[in-house]
Amino acid sequence: MSAAGYVRTVHSASLIFGSTEPPQDDAAETYHEASKLYCSTAARQTRSRLLESHLGLQVSSLRSVKRSSHLPFVALAEPALSTASFADTIESRRSERAFGEDPISAVELSSLLHAAYGVTHELDLGMPGAGPRLRTVPSGGALFPLEVYVVPWRVESLPIALYHFDPLRRLLERLRGGELEGDVRGAMFYDELAVGCGALFLISGVFWRTRFKYGLRGYRFALLECGHLAQNILLAATAFGLGSVPIGGFYDRRADELLGLDGVNESTLYAIAVGTLGNAE
Ligand SMILES: Cc1cc2nc3c(=O)[nH]c(=O)nc-3n(C[C@H](O)[C@H](O)[C@H](O)COP(=O)(O)O)c2cc1C
Repeated sequence: MSAAGYVRTVHSASLIFGSTEPPQDDAAETYHEASKLYCSTAARQTRSRLLESHLGLQVSSLRSVKRSSHLPFVALAEPALSTASFADTIESRRSERAFGEDPISAVELSSLLHAAYGVTHELDLGMPGAGPRLRTVPSGGALFPLEVYVVPWRVESLPIALYHFDPLRRLLERLRGGELEGDVRGAMFYDELAVGCGALFLISGVFWRTRFKYGLRGYRFALLECGHLAQNILLAATAFGLGSVPIGGFYDRRADELLGLDGVNESTLYAIAVGTLGNAE
């Protein structure tokens, strides 16, 4: 601090890189550089022709959800998003970390999932059910590389289990019941937050769904889309008067193990805790 009380903005290179210069092989710089789009190579980099000429890819892209039809499932209530004003919702969102004992309602849970990644439009290609289904969030190339999982600790009429959301059928596939708390705690840096909420949402990326078209840039697109999805959950929760907090602090391999993911083709990207608000002390 100078004598006049002026604090200089930090020169952060040494804080970030541990030295004043980034190493030649800094992984973040290398990745960012490799995922840049250039005029001269854009056509080759985006490979949009591959999708146009490949029926299997076209059909697979229309079904951009993991499906385990053999698993038991729970149909979700008709979603009904809150009609709270958009301005109030935007202004009042805050990360909340103390949740109440009251459960989230079944309609609230269904609406949070719908806000996250629900289907809102089907493009008419002349065959009902065959057109691309668009969602609440934008998606690079409408390829929808994300999957949504939820552990409802306190949700009206829904037994605690690990579920996977199928937005195309609007239901929850039950992946795993039994004792979950130990594994969820083990996977999360903020374990109290992850098990003390009403519902813990976990978002994963299925990277091939975007990489076959966008290459390394597709990985950026998956992360960007994950942010859209997460913000929708946070705002939908805020509009319902629920508390919510996004969580980046989890142990990736343990989170992948919890969700049954190989961590390469599909890996956990983000978590969001939502719950009713406790009484203010
Ligand atoms: C990418 C990301 C990761 C975050 N991870 C955590 C987390 O692991 N634990 C936590 O308590 N809050 C987490 N947060 C919430 C931030 O701490 C919070 O957004 C910030 O303090 C600003 O407060 P606000 O959300 O109330 O505006 C995360 C936020 C973002 C955007």
